[in-house]
Amino acid sequence: MNYKIREATLHDIPYITKIYNQGIEDRIATLETRLREDTEMESWFTTREERYKVIVIEDQESMVRGWASINIFNSRCCYSGVGDLSIYIERDMRGKGLGSTLLRGLLDVANEQEFHKLVLSTFEFNEAGKRLYKALGFREVGTYVDQGILDGSFVNITIMEKLI
Ligand SMILES: CC(C)(COP(=O)(O)OP(=O)(O)OC[C@H]1O[C@@H](n2cnc3c(N)ncnc32)[C@H](O)[C@@H]1OP(=O)(O)O)[C@@H](O)C(=O)NCCC(=O)NCCS
Repeated sequence: MNYKIREATLHDIPYITKIYNQGIEDRIATLETRLREDTEMESWFTTREERYKVIVIEDQESMVRGWASINIFNSRCCYSGVGDLSIYIERDMRGKGLGSTLLRGLLDVANEQEFHKLVLSTFEFNEAGKRLYKALGFREVGTYVDQGILDGSFVNITIMEKLI
């Protein structure tokens, strides 16, 4: 099947929220445990600075199957070339190559927007995420031990980076 990558619009928010909430429910992607409402994600989307893009991947029927974003790493201007990334694929569509296609698209956007580096934090146990990032040239910077608390237990967080 052919997939298309494009910049997200406000109309995509219900799909973005749904896919993000799957990532929250599955406890494999984020320390967040509270499911989000569309209105919260609308505000997240509309208050972003122009270069901090959100992109989506859609199938042949124009159904959004995943999204990725470049987020502020640190608001100090000396870090303006560093972007922090998020990426989420719809639960039933994972492991089919969409994440690789979407992350390639995000790297192109980061280049266009003149970021010199993308960084990310992932659970140390998120094998799919780590394989995806490594396959696209991210290197492991290191792992914070007992960095976050998820459902009452400490989790290790691995930091990765890629120079654009
Ligand atoms: C992580 C995620 C974005 C990867 O996207 P995807 O479409 O599932 O991954 P792809 O099919 O493109 O595969 C990418 C790589 O991961 C590997 N992979 C995919 N699923 C895997 C799994 N369940 N276990 C181990 N490796 C896996 C693939 O083999 C491939 O590696 P390779 O190129 O070395 O063969 C997606 O699984 C997802 O949305 N997961 C939930 C949210 C999440 O974890 N986001 C990242 C937060 S840091």
